[in-house]
Amino acid sequence: MIGFGGDYNPEQWDPATWAEDDELMRRARVTTATVGVFSWAILEPAEGSYDFGWLDDTLDRLHGNGISVTLATPTASPPPWFTFAHPDAMTVTADGTRLTHGSRDTYCAASPAYREAALRIATQLARRYCGHPAVTRWHIHNEYGTICWCDHAAEAFRRWLRDRYRSLDAVNEAWSTSFWSQRYSAWEQILPPRATQYLPNPAQSLDFKRFWSDELLAAYTEQRDEIRRHDPGAEVTTNFILAAWQPIDVWRWSREVDVVAIDHYLDTTDETEGHADIAFAADRARSFNGGRPWVLMEQAASLVNTGGVMAHRAAGRVVMDSLGYVARGADDVLFFQWRASRGGSEMYHAALVPHTGPVSRIFREAVQLGETLECIGEVAGSEVRADVAILYDADSRWALETRSLPSDHLSYLGQIRAIHRMLWEAGVTTDFAPLGADLSGYRLVVAPTLYIMPVAGVDAIRRYVREGGHLAVTFFSGIVDEAHRIHLGGYPGPLRDVLGVRVEEFHPLRPGVTIALDDGSSGTVWSELLRSEGAEVMASYADGLGPAITRHAYGAGIAWYLSTQPRSLHDILRTAGVSPVLPGLPPGVDAVRRGRYLFVFNHGDTPTVLPVSGTDLLTGQTVTTVQPSSAVILTHDPERRQLLA
Ligand code: GLA
Repeated sequence: MIGFGGDYNPEQWDPATWAEDDELMRRARVTTATVGVFSWAILEPAEGSYDFGWLDDTLDRLHGNGISVTLATPTASPPPWFTFAHPDAMTVTADGTRLTHGSRDTYCAASPAYREAALRIATQLARRYCGHPAVTRWHIHNEYGTICWCDHAAEAFRRWLRDRYRSLDAVNEAWSTSFWSQRYSAWEQILPPRATQYLPNPAQSLDFKRFWSDELLAAYTEQRDEIRRHDPGAEVTTNFILAAWQPIDVWRWSREVDVVAIDHYLDTTDETEGHADIAFAADRARSFNGGRPWVLMEQAASLVNTGGVMAHRAAGRVVMDSLGYVARGADDVLFFQWRASRGGSEMYHAALVPHTGPVSRIFREAVQLGETLECIGEVAGSEVRADVAILYDADSRWALETRSLPSDHLSYLGQIRAIHRMLWEAGVTTDFAPLGADLSGYRLVVAPTLYIMPVAGVDAIRRYVREGGHLAVTFFSGIVDEAHRIHLGGYPGPLRDVLGVRVEEFHPLRPGVTIALDDGSSGTVWSELLRSEGAEVMASYADGLGPAITRHAYGAGIAWYLSTQPRSLHDILRTAGVSPVLPGLPPGVDAVRRGRYLFVFNHGDTPTVLPVSGTDLLTGQTVTTVQPSSAVILTHDPERRQLLA
């Protein structure tokens, strides 16, 4: 079964609306509802006094209606009484402003009062609802990410640093504090990277990000452990944000959740971007979950806030897009939210039941989606396999947010996304992998702008190539070690021998500038003064700067180095023997294989004849063509063994 439903807030409505919800959820074939995400003030109206009546009724009602519940702990939004009792637990921004309640997510995760209060309400919920027949999954908190620079944060940061470095001398050394008179002579002098006069210390900023991810993780795991204590078999998770802003190390966090759940809000103003973005999010979610099926915890039924003007999802998109996530491994397609709020800051946010009610395009499409997901239920549980992996590293991402780099226009996420996009356009399904992962199952591994390279951290990459793997590393990689200190002697530090090159200088390009290569192609974003130390030069800069793209045989494998952002990876894919999921598809037609199912999406405006035929799971018909703006899901047809063999 593919789960379908979303955030459900009956506390915002009256009994007549609940009765309508029951009926509409049946009509839309909703299977699951996420309850309680921001309900703290209603569940605990005063410190230590609880009101669970409405939640008891809600869980019983949903259960009676055949709907399972993902029960949230409400700790992302402490009630106003909490602020009054514990003003020191409110978030302080980097410039020293203390925030107050009135929105949500206003708390410091390092404050003892907040942690105590959060654990207390989570414990109450665990005691009361673990084992409740409606509750099939726990959703801790919501989108962990609020950062704080207060004194509690400072204290916790120092504890984390003591743990990591053991001595103050080691911190001074790692942070290069002999620069600009920053040497610390007592632990108490160390602060979070608060607002300061000019460029902050990049190593301090990086460590603060690492620390904060760990601090939030501790806040998550203490709630999770409490739930597990009451119900050892409970499935516990939290929802990750995959946005441009990423305050947690998702690889590390993924080990602590029972199933990876993501929130994904799409920019629907650009069709192609949108489809590529779904693939990008879904491939990451699946990879974070070790290749196993994952949960799309939130998406929007229509209106999404993109750059100040809310963009709507065009007719039919919600079904197609949802299938896009399923094709890449989602076993749950959930929304924020079930019913659009009547008031509050998100009253214009789309929902499966809009303000106009069920007689609406959006609700009709919700029903259509419910039917579609029910019809393809057998896909659930099957897994996607990819031949290519992109290395994705939280440390490099955070370090590249530093302000003192050779270019302000280099974005780590932008580079990861650009490489994923090239692979997506080539019809190749891609996984993501963390540094240190076993890469032996992949034909090709791409390491885009792997800025931080700990010397030992690249052992797995080296082994992979030596044993016959194909590797492609792109520019501005291997520049610093894990403490954010330069690898001296030429870049990419620890991988120079594998790549057979040495980078002497960076020549970043301005946005929009293209640099010509002598093979007729061109590069953008970056260029470098690169020397071959044994690598074969595949293309050079046409202006005479020197080699641009190289290839080096190392052990039984091949290692490419790209000192600029190319337009495609075709040569590398061909050399590595990577072919598209379904060769011969025109641009705009996307194919993904999940277990014995082949999903084909036609995002274009003309029918596409497929190179294979099979039975479409959506219609039960044998199909050879995919109509514009639609999808087919072909299953293995024993008569035509060429498919899915
Ligand atoms: C996030 C939150 C939801 C809601 C949506 C709006 O993902 O988890 O509560 O605010 O954004 O898009």
